[in-house]
Amino acid sequence: MRVEVFFTPHQVEELYFREKRVVVVDVLRASTTIATALYNGAKEIIPVATVESAMKIVGNLDGDVTLLGGERDGKMIEGFHLGNSPLEYVEERVRGKSIVLTTSNGSQAILKARHAREMSVLGFVNISVIESVVREGEGDLVILCAGHDGFFSMEDAVCAGMLIHRLVDGSKAEMELGDAGIASVALYKNQGKSILKMLRNSEHGKYLDEIGFRNDLEACAAADAMPVVPQFLGNVVKLKKDSESIKISIPT
Ligand code: MLT
Repeated sequence: MRVEVFFTPHQVEELYFREKRVVVVDVLRASTTIATALYNGAKEIIPVATVESAMKIVGNLDGDVTLLGGERDGKMIEGFHLGNSPLEYVEERVRGKSIVLTTSNGSQAILKARHAREMSVLGFVNISVIESVVREGEGDLVILCAGHDGFFSMEDAVCAGMLIHRLVDGSKAEMELGDAGIASVALYKNQGKSILKMLRNSEHGKYLDEIGFRNDLEACAAADAMPVVPQFLGNVVKLKKDSESIKISIPT
């Protein structure tokens, strides 16, 4: 299996993803929010690029079962029901709901890879189940980091490195890594001892702390706290069918 890593969606064209098996990572915070919402019973997440299209889509859907969520500059958007803090996506708010989600980088990365043959969403909160899904699947893998406005994000690269490290460790088959994959693993080995510390030291982590979301960093660092497989299919992100039965061995 060959594993390719992109540190930002700006590095690559949409059509590159056709027929590819893709994992999208936006640890802070879209991946974590999506996994949390689905874990807490949300029906689906509809990722959209702009605030305007989010408003338009919600206008056409049943208001009782649809919520608008997302952020710009990390903050809740005026007129939206939810921001992008995973802590807001509790069961009482999201169970049974469709959530139209627009975020600055995470939902954009998902949309960029929408032509993929298979796409799932990864954070530290669901890393073991995603590892199992990748192992059970077939073909090469592309890990697309959401990054930040076209720039590298430490936390996404460390998460990509952690996934690759585990895949290499437990794989009987030969794994071929490009330079970005090798660099991600090196970064994980260097920075992954305390995920929370790494998040607190990251640029976006410091920014989130400054604007009042310090507790989100703990939620985003909690390995395997939301063991679900969010899968993009037919323009929405839903729980992967039968993924409840995926067996995982969570390292202690
Ligand atoms: C994004 O998509 O850029 C992020 O999830 C931003 C955030 O809310 O922290």
